[in-house]
Amino acid sequence: MTAMPSRTATNAAPFIPLHSPCLDDRAWEYIQQCLASNWVSSAGPFVSRFEQMVAEYLKVRYAVATVNGTAALHIALLVAGVQPDDEVLVSSLTFIASANAIRYVGAWPVFIDADPQYWQMDPEAVFHFLERECQWRNGALYNRHTQRRVKAILPVHILGHPVNLEPILQLARKYDLLVLEDAAEGLGAYYKGRAVGSLADAACLSFNGNKIITCGGGGMFVTNRADWAERARYLTTQARDDPIEYIHRDIGYNYRLTSLQAALGCAQMEKLEEFVQRKRQLARSYAERLADLPSISLPAEAPWARSTYWLYTILVRDRNHNLGSRELLHWLRQHGIECRPLWQPLHRSPVYAQLPRRLCPVADRLYQQAISLPSSVGLTEQQQEWIIRTIKSYFIGSNAAA
Ligand SMILES: Cc1ncc(COP(=O)(O)O)c(C=O)c1O
Repeated sequence: MTAMPSRTATNAAPFIPLHSPCLDDRAWEYIQQCLASNWVSSAGPFVSRFEQMVAEYLKVRYAVATVNGTAALHIALLVAGVQPDDEVLVSSLTFIASANAIRYVGAWPVFIDADPQYWQMDPEAVFHFLERECQWRNGALYNRHTQRRVKAILPVHILGHPVNLEPILQLARKYDLLVLEDAAEGLGAYYKGRAVGSLADAACLSFNGNKIITCGGGGMFVTNRADWAERARYLTTQARDDPIEYIHRDIGYNYRLTSLQAALGCAQMEKLEEFVQRKRQLARSYAERLADLPSISLPAEAPWARSTYWLYTILVRDRNHNLGSRELLHWLRQHGIECRPLWQPLHRSPVYAQLPRRLCPVADRLYQQAISLPSSVGLTEQQQEWIIRTIKSYFIGSNAAA
């Protein structure tokens, strides 16, 4: 039987990472093939094979691999024609890369609050912004306060759960806006039977080491639009107009994924469905065994969604006993359990302090209350048992679970 952790830190506790990759023999096999072929840079068969595997999985026509997810976002905004001083609506509760990519093209983020049920970009908040804070002028939509043109919406599927995209797509049609999905955390999730990443004008994926599948680092731009895919391929390869004479008519970027990374990506893609099933099983197990703690709320899955539970995230609600999320976080870390809060909502970020102040109370509350627990595909039953016992010992030791 696993020993209950004591209320003082134990240095003996084994370390359990938040999210580590699950690598297998197939990865070695493909990487060795890649090395043997001598095609280790961005040419060679693995990059296009990886692109094809992702495109087939998502059921989209085109996929362009990039060096990381942030680069894919940058490219998406460029090919969508987002111009300097335009505005792009983006979730406030996301990793900062989503908003920074908007700044890379000289545009400005408008931060949108999260919905209280599933924690994703709230379609109602999008509606209120477009309806009440914008106006039409010369056939385009402008923000009344900033007088900037509103060009696109960048919903971010956070933590493996989809955004409720249908009403956002309807609003985008009404207001003539483009929709670009940030699906960096959403690969393997489904919305109304369709894969996240296939739902809008284009989408971006990340294959960073902590994502559901990884290339070490990597990303992908996906779309059904042939002209966008062609432009993305051109811009990610230094905008070469003539491959022999090196003639360039545009500023391009060196954003291509390497073959070595793609080889790893191919091996990981073969496992994606298995990884999703394992993560859903971990989520069920967390849910069953944490359900009796009244201080904790569990993440919900919408009836129209298949979540991957990329990071299994709970809310800690008990404030009376001074047992906030940060205290529990500290307690778990003391016991060798790596966990983390959500990102500081971007409407609060010092780097965006110059933007007009926006209220996102749901994002604020979630930031205060949320903790992401270890969610690796390879998390063992014993490790999960230890995590659950450590959480329970914390609340029961403080009488908060009574
Ligand atoms: C929501 C979101 N968007 C974008 C990114 C950026 O991806 P990358 O780290 O591959 O650049 C990440 C993760 O890292 C992310 O979680």
